Amino acid sequence: MSLNLHDIQRLLDERGPQQYGLEAVSQLEHALQCAHLAQVAGESDALVIACLLHDLGHLLAAEKDGTREHDTDRDDLHQYAVLPFLRGILPDAVLEPIRLHVDAKRCLCQIETGYFESLSPASVHSLAQQGGPFTEVQARAFLHLPHAEEAIRLRRYDDLAKVPDCAVPPLDHYLPRLAQLMLQSA
Ligand SMILES: [Fe+2]
Ligand SMILES: [Fe+2]
Repeated sequence: MSLNLHDIQRLLDERGPQQYGLEAVSQLEHALQCAHLAQVAGESDALVIACLLHDLGHLLAAEKDGTREHDTDRDDLHQYAVLPFLRGILPDAVLEPIRLHVDAKRCLCQIETGYFESLSPASVHSLAQQGGPFTEVQARAFLHLPHAEEAIRLRRYDDLAKVPDCAVPPLDHYLPRLAQLMLQSA
């Protein structure tokens, strides 16, 4: 079930140019902007690659359904759907921030004044499907999880990675370090 480097590249190259749900950018633009923001911030290779792949589950869901893009009227659980395809080929330092990036949004809505108001309309739309903001107790529990801080940082890059026509490095720029992380996990 695991993907290889070629599969990941193909998914992003072929399905990535499709629009990102209700956002103003495509899935590929979103992934590349997210990875670039992490790289500029000096994040580890693992978190840069987590940013690149964090929404790959949307592309897999669309491929499985045979549709052009993922259905925004229901929660496709993309943060979990992608995990069986990446487990065993990438380390937890990549997988866990991906798994937790939706809960990081739910957490930030609870702990940070003004965060909810900063979300794009599409993110607000999906938040409702994803269970809404965490309670105080849920947020506290989330923050104790391993890789919660990385997931929160991924989330912040994610929220900013929606700028139309933004020039950032292409997919090829990230493939050597993706291959390196896969090699290390083999
Ligand atoms: Fe996402
Ligand atoms: Fe995203």
